[in-house]
Amino acid sequence: MTKRDILAGMDIGTSNIRVIVGEIASDGSINIIGVGTSPSEGIKKGVIIDLEQTVESINRATAEAERMVGAKIDLANVGIVGSHIGLFTSRGVVAVAREDKEITEQDVERVLQAAKVIALPQDREIIDVIPREFIIDDYDGIRDPVGMLGVRLEVEAMVITGSMTSLRNLLRCVNMAGYEVSNLVLNALANGEICLTRDEKELGVFLLDLGGGTTEISLFRGGTLQDLSVLPVGGDHITNDLAVGLRTTFELAERLKVDKGVAQAEMASAECDIEIEGISGKEKRMISAIDLYNFIEPRVQEIMNLCKQEMGRMGYSNMPPGGVVLTGGVSLMKGISELAGETFGCSVRIAQPSYLGVKSPIYSTAVGLIHYVYRNQGLIRRASKRQDRRSGGFLYNLWRRLKNFVTEIWE
Ligand SMILES: Nc1ncnc2c1ncn2[C@@H]1O[C@H](COP(=O)(O)OP(=O)(O)OP(=O)(O)O)[C@@H](O)[C@H]1O
Ligand SMILES: [Mg+2]
Repeated sequence: MTKRDILAGMDIGTSNIRVIVGEIASDGSINIIGVGTSPSEGIKKGVIIDLEQTVESINRATAEAERMVGAKIDLANVGIVGSHIGLFTSRGVVAVAREDKEITEQDVERVLQAAKVIALPQDREIIDVIPREFIIDDYDGIRDPVGMLGVRLEVEAMVITGSMTSLRNLLRCVNMAGYEVSNLVLNALANGEICLTRDEKELGVFLLDLGGGTTEISLFRGGTLQDLSVLPVGGDHITNDLAVGLRTTFELAERLKVDKGVAQAEMASAECDIEIEGISGKEKRMISAIDLYNFIEPRVQEIMNLCKQEMGRMGYSNMPPGGVVLTGGVSLMKGISELAGETFGCSVRIAQPSYLGVKSPIYSTAVGLIHYVYRNQGLIRRASKRQDRRSGGFLYNLWRRLKNFVTEIWE
């Protein structure tokens, strides 16, 4: 198996680190051939707080995936949480270089470079530039200008910036674990790739990634990501409420939440058939699913209310035509789509990857990372780009610069 056929996605989450390895089949489809999961230690609310622990967690997840694949992974496509991310629109203009005025990939590269020329604070770095539309001699709305004719090529692009410190620590962890970062991709873009239909993205939709420590709200419209916000609340808070409320351990509370938790009263049975034990392991008690519901529902409702408030801030007090799509571990909670539907007053569905073995919303980000990278660069294009990697592809440059910087600090 050659390295060119394989793409690895690494989702470094608050609860779990998930590594997915995809093999690109000859017909261009992706087969999932490796899956690795490890509980995440060293990360709080999406932010790395302990390098060593995070590296160990990464190593456990990658080792599992590599065992399944039967080969070592060298390069990883790593997801970035949106909490330190800034999105803004920028424009770039260039003259078409060729004498016959046919627009080439080089013109597109140049115009995207031009869109990147912006004043940035010292602690921020550009992560990516995503074209929203190209404009050729005042004809707008063009998605792919290569091969068209024109004199002047313009782009309206979304520039994604991130905090240097967060990026540096993320790259440092992945490097220390023994992997190179081939691409950094926003979790929201990866999720959007797996969870949303083309129509939803075009018409407008909110995607909520309900994770362990964070809830990421992303708004897609006109085919692309428009806005992004991360709330520092998630499934861990539900577990915490349960542990405190039932006076039991965090582990048992987590198990009860996952196995028996519901967010809708009608789904909970009133019979007392759940045995729990106190923190010391003594004082066994019987509780009902209704008791669990009484602790779970207020927190889930609070998360939904906070999301609604944030959506209003993004300009949507009425929901967009595509409604709301849920993904991430907490979307597995029974009754959550009903509760979300009541809160947002629109259609709500739960999305997950459709591959065997990873058919769960907990894998959306990691599988989405592979899809996003493959669709946007394509292995063939990537291979041909190896050359400009050597001369300095953008992400490679960022990675190299950060790596050098971090190495200087640490050595
Ligand atoms: N069946 C279930 N019912 C309810 N909650 C669940 C279920 N399965 C997992 N969860 C919760 O989902 C959360 C983990 O989700 P996920 O793996 O998407 O988070 P993460 O990506 O590690 O975290 P983050 O995105 O916040 O960085 C945990 O709080 C876990 O308890
Ligand atoms: Mg996550």
